[in-house]
Amino acid sequence: MKKIVIEGGNSLKGSVRISGAKNAALPAIAACILTGGWHRIHQIPALRDIMTIQTIMSSMGSTFQENSDKSLSINTDNIFEHEASYDLVKTMRASILLLGPLIARLGRARISLPGGCAIGARPVNLHLKALTAMGVDMRLEHGYINAEVKSLKGANIFFDTPTVTGTENIMMAAVMADGRSVLNNCAKEPEVVDLADMLRKMGAEIEGDGTDTIIIDGVKELKPADHAIIPDRIEAGTFMIASAMTQGDITIQNCRPDHLYAVIEKLRAVGAEIEYGENKFSIKGPGTINSVDITTMPFPGFPTDLQAQFMTLMCIAQGSSIIEETIFENRFIHVSELERMGADITINGNQALVRGRANLLAAPVMATDLRASASLILAGLAAVDGRTEVHRIYHLDRGYEALEEKFRALGANIRREEA
Ligand code: EPU
Repeated sequence: MKKIVIEGGNSLKGSVRISGAKNAALPAIAACILTGGWHRIHQIPALRDIMTIQTIMSSMGSTFQENSDKSLSINTDNIFEHEASYDLVKTMRASILLLGPLIARLGRARISLPGGCAIGARPVNLHLKALTAMGVDMRLEHGYINAEVKSLKGANIFFDTPTVTGTENIMMAAVMADGRSVLNNCAKEPEVVDLADMLRKMGAEIEGDGTDTIIIDGVKELKPADHAIIPDRIEAGTFMIASAMTQGDITIQNCRPDHLYAVIEKLRAVGAEIEYGENKFSIKGPGTINSVDITTMPFPGFPTDLQAQFMTLMCIAQGSSIIEETIFENRFIHVSELERMGADITINGNQALVRGRANLLAAPVMATDLRASASLILAGLAAVDGRTEVHRIYHLDRGYEALEEKFRALGANIRREEA
């Protein structure tokens, strides 16, 4: 078991390159199940979640080859197994993304129900309801989803609430269904659009991705993919917030400002100076951090995956701010760890009142989920009075590639040690 040790107080300076997006890479890899042959996906980040999906797909018959240019070649000629077991699914909920492609390719799938997780109940009822509308016989037995269909039918589907992996799953099922599918109240996240781009390159007929309504005309055949996934907007946002917290002056390369407008707007209100070009940002942290309220929303609103990091910034702002979480019901678990670092936060339902103070104090803390880990690292970078230790960093390795190396290259005093 490792921990991350930080001696805070350094201003971040220099340039950092953002990795490919975890949440775009996972559906892209799953989509390779749709048709056999060698697929090639570029900009794959080295993350634990990526290893997990490879392990599951290897057990189904896929083969993987990592190339020196950070691309991943995937062969799915032989998919002889249709089950994702509890042991693997419990470590990564996104395994549910295998459901749509397996049904489309094999007409059957058996996937462990993901269950709840640290940030909320996170049901998958909308995935199941949509597949039922497409003619799939769905049975929930002994903690598993058992799905079977003779012939997938296009359908008119309404998502009660926009769901990112739900929209992706149903898109992957619909591309080879018989007839037209109309998906209403879809998630508009850039990762959904990226998956649609990849599926179109494979020969799928999809329109409307990035809007509420996606229309898909099923095709009989697809061809293997060659696709570069988008940069990770959450990683980019995490570095932007780090610069804002440390009076930093950094350039962020390989990122998409159009995926981060809500975050740019809030960080400018905080007092950060931000300039951006097509694929890069520069961001200078302010001398005094203004307090700013946020409410998390589906894209293009402020992302829930940056809520914990933004809250950490507000811990050292002048004045009080309200952070409202509308996507996940339990996504304030980082609060008690931030309190151990001197933060003054009161939770009331899905709102947190953060009273800013001059400094956070170094302390040993424990990560509880992926984005909470990032928020504790930011707190450690800003704490000026000594050594912060972040424990249970396996959460961090699920979704941030070489985070401490990237922070060290920007001048932070941060390292990984045996716990
Ligand atoms: N929901 C339902 N029923 C469903 C599906 C979702 O009620 O069948 C609800 C959820 O409980 C939640 C809301 O709908 O309240 C939105 O959840 P969504 O389905 O969009 O979340 P997800 O697809 O499971 C993805 C990301 C998350 C990110 C959310 C929201 C991936 C692999 N995961 O999850 O990423 O927080 O969208 O943007 O794409 C992370 O990277 O740290 C992470 C948690």
